[in-house]
Amino acid sequence: MSRLRYWTRRLRDLGENARRIGPTQVILTLAYGPRLAWYRARFPTRPGRPASVRPRLAAAFHLLLDRLPRMTRPTPQPVGDLQTVTNLPQGLALTCTAGYLTLEALGEHHLRLRMVRRPPMPAYFSYATLPVSTTATVDRVEEDEALELRTAALRVCIRRRPLQIDIHTAAGEPLISCLTLGWEGEMPWLEQALPEGLEGYGLGERAFPLALRGRRYSLITRDPETYRPGDDPLYINIPFLVTVHEGRACGLLFDSSYRSDLDLGHTQPDRLRYRTTGPELRLDFLLGPDLPGLLERYTALTGRMNLPPRWTLGYHQSRWSYETAAIVRRVAAEFRRRRLPCDAIHLDIDYMDGFRCFTWNPQTFPDPAGLIADLHRQGFRVVAMVDPGIKVDPNYAVCADGIRQDCFLKLPDGSLFHGPVWPGECYFPDFTDPRVRAWWGEWYRGLVEVGVDGFWNDMNEPTIFGQRTFPEAVQYHVEGHGGDHRQAQSVYGLQMVRASFEGLSRLRPDRRPWVFSRSGYAGLQRYGSSWTGDNTSAWPDLALTPAMLLNLGLSGLSFTGCDIGGFVGAPTPELFARWFSMAAFTPFFRTHAAKNTPWREPWVFGPEVEAIARRYLNLRMRLLPYLYTAFWQCATRGTPIMRPLLWEDAAHPAYRHRDDQWLLGDHLLVSPVLTPATDRRELMLPAGHWYDFWDDTPVAGGAIIGRAAPLDTVPLHVRAGAVLPLGPVQQYSDELPHPALEFHLYPPPAAEPVVSWLYNDDGETLAYRRGAYSLTRLELRRDGDRLVLTREHEGDPDLAGPAPTVVLHGAYAAAVALDGADLGLTGSALALPTAHWQRLEMLPARD
Ligand code: GLC
Repeated sequence: MSRLRYWTRRLRDLGENARRIGPTQVILTLAYGPRLAWYRARFPTRPGRPASVRPRLAAAFHLLLDRLPRMTRPTPQPVGDLQTVTNLPQGLALTCTAGYLTLEALGEHHLRLRMVRRPPMPAYFSYATLPVSTTATVDRVEEDEALELRTAALRVCIRRRPLQIDIHTAAGEPLISCLTLGWEGEMPWLEQALPEGLEGYGLGERAFPLALRGRRYSLITRDPETYRPGDDPLYINIPFLVTVHEGRACGLLFDSSYRSDLDLGHTQPDRLRYRTTGPELRLDFLLGPDLPGLLERYTALTGRMNLPPRWTLGYHQSRWSYETAAIVRRVAAEFRRRRLPCDAIHLDIDYMDGFRCFTWNPQTFPDPAGLIADLHRQGFRVVAMVDPGIKVDPNYAVCADGIRQDCFLKLPDGSLFHGPVWPGECYFPDFTDPRVRAWWGEWYRGLVEVGVDGFWNDMNEPTIFGQRTFPEAVQYHVEGHGGDHRQAQSVYGLQMVRASFEGLSRLRPDRRPWVFSRSGYAGLQRYGSSWTGDNTSAWPDLALTPAMLLNLGLSGLSFTGCDIGGFVGAPTPELFARWFSMAAFTPFFRTHAAKNTPWREPWVFGPEVEAIARRYLNLRMRLLPYLYTAFWQCATRGTPIMRPLLWEDAAHPAYRHRDDQWLLGDHLLVSPVLTPATDRRELMLPAGHWYDFWDDTPVAGGAIIGRAAPLDTVPLHVRAGAVLPLGPVQQYSDELPHPALEFHLYPPPAAEPVVSWLYNDDGETLAYRRGAYSLTRLELRRDGDRLVLTREHEGDPDLAGPAPTVVLHGAYAAAVALDGADLGLTGSALALPTAHWQRLEMLPARD
């Protein structure tokens, strides 16, 4: 982007933000810049820069000082020759001329490489990963020029002079070539070759197309205060790169929470270069070898999503803000009156008393318990925002108690750090301290007692107004290790969500906590969901959304979504309709809009758009059993709910860049319109056979086809052979306690069986962990002239639901037998007499 365009936009954003936060906050924000400079001068953190005796003077020159290290950037030094090798239980310790490394095989497909300046290697500590119980058998082979480390799946070749590492599969296919390491001043770096044909994905939240090669990425959390395509970095930092080359998928977790950067073939098209400002370089390398295998391994390492409550899969309506209880009631009533299904209403910061977390504004929300009870009676759940900033106010209980109990972050001289956010000057809890996390979790009690169902953690990059964060010198507990903001910034949000999640688990032990967060680090999925922050009402931003969500899913964080319509700005009816119908097929389905924007409820755009919204809300409710099963797959195997076409065949060149289509769950291909003024689109159908969801037309895959897509149509295709379990239209997800399902059968053209899954449980408690769930495996195939559906069931038979109706697509049944007995039924909708059966045989005839 040109500098002029950048600054025009920055100024426009600044104007917009100033209007939103008001004059006092603008003054506080402006004053924070010089304050930050003063902190920097008073508490220097950069190595080699002495504490200034004249902080005020130094502050005046802070801009220059900050740039100095960049001007005098040291030349990168390689780590040099390998000097000594020592065996470790799972690998090797390597002493080189300029560095000390350990390389361990923590699984047959998992290597961990660490590098520090000199031994000893510090005890392993990470906020991203879970403890690994090592299972790999490791062989070491020593030769003159090189050594080899082998597991059943990997061969690591280490050349001695100079040190260089190559990783192959056991069969000798290259995975990582010419990996070299070294130092740039005190910053460790790593480089490796990027062979032609390799593509990169993942890397958390990126405002870029799906395929990431050719750019440089900043690995740090940041509040951009609204963003557009191409802005980097954003709120969430997940330093996990997925590489796909010749169909093999590898994962590289660059686990350093310090500010780092990754050059993925930007400076040199055939080199990857990673650098961190932390004292240690750490790389966890995983071999898939396919994408499902890779995601399973990565989420075994960093944790999996917990099954969320089922209502979170429904539609959420939000706005900054529904400012009074009366407005909330009106909005809720309107949803029900217009029969627009909705599960949750979100309360943004204005429900609080002067933006004080864990309080209610007594004027505008005088009776929160009464309001929430009424909303519950109408089937709504309530989600409330909680920010990390605690208003500096001795009369505010959270502030007073936090000071008393020593919960807030401090500067090195022991004084409390404070900075301006919504309520004015705020203190910030140290979420890296288990004691503070427990304290924080307890504050949710009041919100839980009045009935709030879900929670929204925001501003946790952590943000100080003016696109800023805390001074680097702010001190943290870091689970007893001690550290400062340089190390803690990227994990602040993660640990905040952890504190919220753990607190809610204690307060409501048998209910699934649900927290979603704006910021996070690798592993966020263990504690919460997310959304893509303050996007913009514009077509390019709509088109960007699927790519962002797909890469988040490939980074282990799949339960995520966007602000429908764009947070800032005002969508046209056409943009809103396209955005809304697209988002119905993303994991987190929520409309949200900034202050001072026009209302954004589905009915404000006129009857045509309202009807479109209703159509997709109804379909979302119909898809709920299928969607819930996709969530279960994500919770048990790390499989993203929304998957790129690449998931079908990682070696297929046509899928590498496709990010305007995706698979929702196993069998539904979604191809929304993401551009204005069109009623057609081209779409890629993966190999195999497909059915058009809307009109049952069978379509051969492995081709690009055109499809009419008027404003009310998102092209959808179902895989031939699939069984799509559909529920009834409900106004909210648990309106009907045990709804009867329809099994929609899409007959496969060939004998090859296709498997579909259906998972169910009570959708609310943790009873599923004690066996209260139902898992059904459905296999559909042709057997001569018959169509055979077999069913295997595991778990609680009652949770399988009442007897289903089987709906045949593209054919009708001329004869039907259930477990060998002729049912005497014909047609395309077959109401089965029982819920418990094993084999359904149908004699299909064409429509
Ligand atoms: C942040 C959030 C946004 C919210 C606003 C007010 O900008 O990203 O969603 O509405 O704060 O709380």
